[in-house]
Amino acid sequence: MGSERGGGRPAWIGAGVLLAILGFCVTVAGAAALKPDAGLESGWATINHSMALVQRLEALLAQGNGSDVVLRVQTVNSDEVKVIQAHALVLSLHSEVFEELLQARNGSTLVLTELAECAAVFDKFTRYLYCGEISVSLDQAVPLHKLASKYRVWALRQGLSLYMRQHMASDSPAGHVVGWYQYATQTGDAALRDGCLQYLSWNLSSVMQSGEWVAMGDGLLLTLLQRSDLVLHSELELFEALEAWAAQNRPDAAAAESALRAVRYAMIPPQQLFRLQKQSPLLLRYQESVRDLLFLAFQFHAASPQQLAKYFDVNCSLFTPRNYLSPAWGAPWVINNPTRDDRSTSFQTQLGPSGHDAGKRVTWNALFSPRWLPLNLRAPYGEHAGSMLPARADGGGGGGGGVGGSAGHPRIIVTPATSSADFAGVSFQKTVIVAARQQGKAVVRHVYNFHQSTEETGDFLANADLQRRASEYLIDNSLYLHIVVKPIYHTLVIAKK
Ligand SMILES: *[C@@H]1O[C@H](CO)[C@@H](O)[C@H](O)[C@H]1NC(C)=O
Ligand SMILES: *[C@@H]1O[C@H](CO)[C@@H](O)[C@H](O)[C@H]1NC(C)=O
Ligand SMILES: *[C@@H]1O[C@H](CO)[C@@H](O)[C@H](O)[C@H]1NC(C)=O
Ligand SMILES: *[C@@H]1O[C@H](CO)[C@@H](O)[C@H](O)[C@H]1NC(C)=O
Ligand SMILES: *[C@@H]1O[C@H](CO)[C@@H](O)[C@H](O)[C@H]1NC(C)=O
Repeated sequence: MGSERGGGRPAWIGAGVLLAILGFCVTVAGAAALKPDAGLESGWATINHSMALVQRLEALLAQGNGSDVVLRVQTVNSDEVKVIQAHALVLSLHSEVFEELLQARNGSTLVLTELAECAAVFDKFTRYLYCGEISVSLDQAVPLHKLASKYRVWALRQGLSLYMRQHMASDSPAGHVVGWYQYATQTGDAALRDGCLQYLSWNLSSVMQSGEWVAMGDGLLLTLLQRSDLVLHSELELFEALEAWAAQNRPDAAAAESALRAVRYAMIPPQQLFRLQKQSPLLLRYQESVRDLLFLAFQFHAASPQQLAKYFDVNCSLFTPRNYLSPAWGAPWVINNPTRDDRSTSFQTQLGPSGHDAGKRVTWNALFSPRWLPLNLRAPYGEHAGSMLPARADGGGGGGGGVGGSAGHPRIIVTPATSSADFAGVSFQKTVIVAARQQGKAVVRHVYNFHQSTEETGDFLANADLQRRASEYLIDNSLYLHIVVKPIYHTLVIAKK
C-alpha cells in the first residue's frame, strides 16, 4: 500500500501524533516531562524508538495482524472495492466519526462509500492514521482534505490546508488554485479560500497568462474584477485578459455585462480606449451596456478631473487605481543586503491617469531604513536626545555609534522631490508590494498601503526576519519591492450625498 500517485513533488505533513498518544518514548528512570539538556547533568536519558514504532505500525496495517475490523471501501458509481484489514482502536484514536461507525457496526465489516478520487487515496489516508505522516502531491490535496473533513481528522485537515496555502505557486499543467478556491468555498474552509483569492489577486499578471485564468467561473472572475488590490501590469492588460476569458467561456449576457462594467476604463489611456471601442469584439457586442462608463472615462481624460467633478456625480470605483506595475505608476526596487544600511532611490510617475495629467511627471524619493526606531523608542541620551542623535536610529552605515544595539523596524518613506503645491486636488496613495519565495518562485506576499511612511501601516515587514539568511523574503539575498504611486482625485472618489 501507499504507492506514490500523481506527478508533483510530494511533501510530508504532520508527525507522530499517534506516538504521542501511545507514549512510546521511554524516559529512563521515570520523570515524565524531562528536558533533554537538564537530563545530561543528572543522569537522565531518553531512549527513543519512535521511528521503529512507526515501522511496526505500518507493518501491522500492511499485514493485518490482529485486525478486528475489515474496511470495505466502495467507490461511488463503480464496482471497485478496496479491502483493508484495520484495527478499531487505531481508527478511533484520530476520529470520532470512525469511533461512532465502529460502535454501530454489524459484524466485523465496516462498509464505506467514497468518491472515486477519495477511494484512490484511501490507502494513504489509512496509513496516516497508523503512522501520523503522509506524503502529498498537488492533485491529492483535495481528495485527502475531503477524507480528513468527512472523518474529522482535524490535524490532517489543517496540515493539508496549510500545504495548499504554501503551494499556490507550484507548477501544474492545468493550474490548481482555481480548483482549490472552488473546493474551499464549497467546504467552508475560509482560510484556504482567502489564501487562493489573495494569490490570484496579487499574482494576477502570471495568472492571466496561465491556464487558470480561462478555467475560472464567472463568480470568481467578478469577485476578482471588483478588487482594488489586484497586482497587474495595467488595466488594459486586464481588459485583454477578460476578452480572452470571454472568448473561451462564452458567458451569458448578464455575466459578460457585469464583468465589463467592473473594468476601470478611466485607468486606460484614451488612445487605447479608442482602439478598444472600435476593435474589441466584446465591447462591440456589449457597447450599450458600458456606454455610460466609456463616456465618463473619455470625459475624465478630456479636462482636469476637478472640473469634471464640479458638474457630474461619478462612479467612484471607475477612478480608483489598482496596483499597476507599468512604469507610469511606479518602479521596482531590489535592495541587496537589506539589513546593511539605509538605501534611497528615486523614480518618476505620471501626475495622474487622466489624459489631462498623464503627460506631467512627478519625481519621488524613497528611503529604506532597515532598523528605524520612532523617536519615542530611541535609547535615552539624557537632555541631548533630540539634538545630538542622528535622525536615523541605525546610524545609516556611517559612525553608527551609540544606537547599534537597538532593535528597530524596517521603514520606507516616499516623498515628492518637487513642491506639492502643483498637486492641488490630487493626493497620492503609495503602495509597496513585497515578494517572497514560495517553492523557489517569487510570489507577491504583502501589499502595504500608506500615505508617506510605512509606519502608518503598523506592520511593515513585521515577520520578514531579514537578519536570517534563510528568510523567505530574501531572494538571492535581496529584498524585492515594487513601489506604486496611486493618484487619487479626491473630488471624484469621495462619495457625494
Ligand atoms: C525521537 O526520534 C524521532 C525521529 O527519530 C524524532 O522526530 C523525535 O523528536 C524524537 N523524540 C524525542 C522525545 O526525542
Ligand atoms: C504478522 O504475522 C505474521 C505471521 O502470520 C508474522 O510473520 C509477522 O511477524 C507478524 N507481524 C507483526 C507486525 O506482528
Ligand atoms: C446484521 O447483519 C445481518 C446479516 O449480515 C443481518 O441479518 C442483520 O439484520 C444486520 N443487523 C443490523 C442491525 O443491521
Ligand atoms: C507573482 O507576481 C509577481 C509580480 O507580477 C511576479 O514577479 C512573480 O513572478 C509572480 N510569481 C508567480 C509564481 O507567478
Ligand atoms: C458603479 O459601477 C459599479 C461597477 O460597474 C456598479 O456596480 C455600480 O452600480 C455603479 N454605481 C453607480 C452609482 O453608478
